[in-house]
Amino acid sequence: MLVTRTARLVIDDSEVSIELPIYSPSIGQDVIDVRPLTAEGIFTYDPGFVSTAACESSITFIDGDRGILMHRGYPIEQLARHSSYVELCYLLLFGELPNSSQYTEFDARVRNHTLVHAQIANFFQGFRRDAHPMAILCGVVGGLSAFYHDHTDNSDPEDRLISAVRLVAKMPTIAAMSYKYALGQPFRPPRNDLKYAENFLYMMFSTPCESYEVNPVYSKALERILMLHADHEQNASTSTVRLAGSTGANPFACISAGIAALWGPAHGGANEAVLNMLDEIGDDSEENIQRFIDRAKDRNDPFRLMGFGHRVYNSFDPRARVMKETCDEVLAELGKADDPKLRIAKRLEQIALEDEYFVQRKLYPNVDFYSGIILRAMGIPTNMFTVIFAVSRTIGWIAHWNEMVAGGLKIGRPRQLYSGEKRRDYPAR
Ligand code: SDX
Repeated sequence: MLVTRTARLVIDDSEVSIELPIYSPSIGQDVIDVRPLTAEGIFTYDPGFVSTAACESSITFIDGDRGILMHRGYPIEQLARHSSYVELCYLLLFGELPNSSQYTEFDARVRNHTLVHAQIANFFQGFRRDAHPMAILCGVVGGLSAFYHDHTDNSDPEDRLISAVRLVAKMPTIAAMSYKYALGQPFRPPRNDLKYAENFLYMMFSTPCESYEVNPVYSKALERILMLHADHEQNASTSTVRLAGSTGANPFACISAGIAALWGPAHGGANEAVLNMLDEIGDDSEENIQRFIDRAKDRNDPFRLMGFGHRVYNSFDPRARVMKETCDEVLAELGKADDPKLRIAKRLEQIALEDEYFVQRKLYPNVDFYSGIILRAMGIPTNMFTVIFAVSRTIGWIAHWNEMVAGGLKIGRPRQLYSGEKRRDYPAR
């Protein structure tokens, strides 16, 4: 890292003046290296890491003010329209787009790892049929290291790649199994002749009783949803994977930790929460929608407009734009352009983009606002929405894990501002 400037920290009422190096990125904000503060016995304080760069990375860049998202320098809008999820996986992992032979080899490698060990089916028997599929995903993915411990030398780049391919390949299989388990239908094995999104839908919706053709409208929409959710810099779940990985834990355990973090409604659970919110709003009458808008603005009311706001984007989430277009396309092609949930969503967006409360706080629709409407139109149940987000984000998680491990491990260990009791002795009794 190139030191481009120096910050000087002068602490009043003392002679202390500390020089802090400033590093400049290839694009984006400069960072101040605060590590010299430790020698002075001072910590930085930044709950929620609002202004903390926890690592150096070259995978994804976000400009929250200008609504920019790039993966290895390629704008998400272009990737979502012209690339494929498997090609994007290659780009995120290796840093460059594959040529045709590299793509063919990588795609074949993924297709040939989609099966899971037959005994993994036994995991599911321990869950109730009404278990949330995210609970199942957390448990089963965490247990994968019990089956795939043949290549878990994190210091070996080839072992790291084998685990990355296994995770990207097996997530749709496990996700589809969690859906089938809830239905009480038999698991459907993956097919190597189908593309990634097609295969996922096939494993979810086909049954042994009849042949099943995946609707191309659905597979194209799902492919785009997978690409739009693939990676997003140091978000909460990716930071969780990095922190878990910094201890040297195996990649399956780290991804399971990421799945757990993603589940929260403030993060990846928002897509499910958006549909539950639209169901709660019910009718699209003006006074009813306004009532919910007023509730979202009321600090004393816990109701939030799910799918709005973002820690980084102070303008439109570029993924939401593409998602909205995809939503319109899918519903039109399915003859559901007049979907009542879509009507409510569009009215909410219109009001929020004009209302001072949202404008002042820069609360725009985020990636989760429209994705659930598309998934529901495809017949996917609400409780599978975050599962699909997790399937997509697995490549982002494992690319960041790989980047961190390759760069040399330093265990993550934040400090605190202690506000508890001073020393006191245990009372004599
Ligand atoms: C994802 O980090 C990533 O990159 C995440 C993600 C990814 O790809 O990994 O992009 C995916 O998680 C998208 C976000 C999905 N979450 C939601 O849609 C849930 C609804 N949104 C909020 O919970 C919230 O906006 C967050 C959690 C997304 C961001 O919260 P921040 O940055 O901590 O902001 P904040 O909670 O401090 O809010 C600032 C103000 C507050 O009001 P005041 O205290 O100023 O009066 O804005 C208000 C909040 O009350 N506010 C909202 C709101 N979001 C923030 N008010 C109503 N509805 C909302 N949705």
